[in-house]
Amino acid sequence: MKTSLGLVLAALAVLTAACDFNLKSTRRFRLPQGNADNGKAAFVALNCTTCHTVTGVDLPKPTVEPTAVVGLGGEVARLRTYGDLLTSIIHPTHALSEKMNPLAVKAAGTSPMPVVNDRMTVTQMVDLVTFLQPRYRQLPPPVEWYYPL
Ligand code: HEC
Repeated sequence: MKTSLGLVLAALAVLTAACDFNLKSTRRFRLPQGNADNGKAAFVALNCTTCHTVTGVDLPKPTVEPTAVVGLGGEVARLRTYGDLLTSIIHPTHALSEKMNPLAVKAAGTSPMPVVNDRMTVTQMVDLVTFLQPRYRQLPPPVEWYYPL
């Protein structure tokens, strides 16, 4: 009897861990389909172009110092999901970009990117992500480093 109770408890522990029940989980979070053209317009309207260029898109030139410009899109080691981009936009300090100079990130501690949450509509946010997400392309993995010939 003792053993079976132990087994049940162990099984329960495994099951609970497997469920990974977490009230902060964003697993079932889905955005509605956005509009990329409107996203481009929002990108200009919200002054994102002050600091950013976007690969393959004709936009007003950034006005910050050239070293402070952060290019969005293009070839990256890790593709950006909707979740990554949303987090970057509405919670910039949480996900400091791999593109920013690591020393600058360390020195700043927070992202220099302004929070526009009180000015941006939800529709603009969805459209911005729809505009930006397909601009990223994944770099092929450096296979030859792992399998030298
Ligand atoms: C004052 C300059 C500045 C402005 C204005 C700005 N950003 Fe940024 N942004 C940054 C910097 C610096 C980074 C890199 C550090 C970081 O990830 O926070 C960044 C990172 C990002 C990233 C993540 C990039 C990646 O490849 O992971 C996205 C997406 C982004 N910004 C979107 C926007 C959008 C959309 C706007 C307009 C609403 C905007 N930014 C306005 C400076 C700015």
